[in-house]
Amino acid sequence: MKLRNQCLVFVCLFMLSSYSLKKEKSYTVSLKDVFKDEFYIGTALSADQIEEKAPKEDSLIRKEFNAITAENIMKSMFVHPQKDKYDFSLADKFVAYGKKNKMFVHGHTLIWHSQLAPWMRKIKDSVEMKAFMKDHINTIVSRYKGRIGSWDVVNEALNEDGTLRKSVFFNTMGDKYLVDAFKLAAKADPKAELYYNDYNIEEPVKRAGAINLIKKIKAGGGKIDGVGIQGHWRLNSPSLNEIEQSILDYSALGLKVAFTELDITVLPNPGDLRGADVNQNFQGNKKMNPYPNGLPDSIQNKLANRYESLFRLFLKHKDKISRVTFWGVHDGQSWLNDWPIKGRTNYPLLFDANLKQKKAYQSITNL
Ligand code: XIL
Repeated sequence: MKLRNQCLVFVCLFMLSSYSLKKEKSYTVSLKDVFKDEFYIGTALSADQIEEKAPKEDSLIRKEFNAITAENIMKSMFVHPQKDKYDFSLADKFVAYGKKNKMFVHGHTLIWHSQLAPWMRKIKDSVEMKAFMKDHINTIVSRYKGRIGSWDVVNEALNEDGTLRKSVFFNTMGDKYLVDAFKLAAKADPKAELYYNDYNIEEPVKRAGAINLIKKIKAGGGKIDGVGIQGHWRLNSPSLNEIEQSILDYSALGLKVAFTELDITVLPNPGDLRGADVNQNFQGNKKMNPYPNGLPDSIQNKLANRYESLFRLFLKHKDKISRVTFWGVHDGQSWLNDWPIKGRTNYPLLFDANLKQKKAYQSITNL
């Protein structure tokens, strides 16, 4: 009798555990699987994440994402700190991480006016600038030939009114630096996909500037495959119409469209600041940091709705979109906690600071 009871308990326990295992399995969705037939789902990685310093974050990254961008460590000041010195230690680890996990690896970024090494800002004429670009682009792109799938060749070359930014590149070479950069990158790795990347280029005036810029690159014989719309957005803007028109306009030029740095701020912006100029910084106060201890449900819902409608639009145009990359893995690491005001608590991504899925995650995966 005793033995029979023991057997019964054992059988019950077995059935229960296999039921809960099954249940868990059917709920284990991931972003990359949900969208695997549509576009890559990427994330930006910090130096610590590249070095796999936090095991929980690492398994989340591997579960959810199939594309990676380095948030900082491939920028000029890090990989090319002195004229005759490159430092590829972290970049090599980043590319190896992508390979190990079978992820699409995106290179960010070759020619950008921000996060330059100080010596680059002193380049004073076109001869010096041409020599710099040749060495810089060729050295970096050929090192990762065949391993980095696409590059942001030029980042943020435009002003808000669509004219060209007076960067050290423009000041020394005029607009010729654009075509040269794309030619050099194509020569170093003919198979890599080459992108122009910027913020606010879904807004009509700046978009017109971006279209001109792309046409100029093509007319000059440069190879350009895609446009990266950064997507540092807000709860209520830009409008879906503007985003949709941008997808249509850019793809009409024969380009792929990627959303390369997606995040949605839920905090008040200083003035009518839009975009993502990393050099703009403002003084904060309590009013500007309204949710230091948690996001109210009403805003959490708004964020979920905003993400849902964006992804609905992305799905509608999945044939034109190559990749959607979030600018960070979780809220705790987002650059928006420190930009454009230092020390705030923002909630722009799909995972909270404890790596828990937010409502926005469900709203997207339920699509
Ligand atoms: C940001 C990083 O997230 C920050 O950590 C860094 O301090 C500044 O740059 N546009 C870009 C990105 O192309 O490289 C920027 O990343 C955000 C705006």
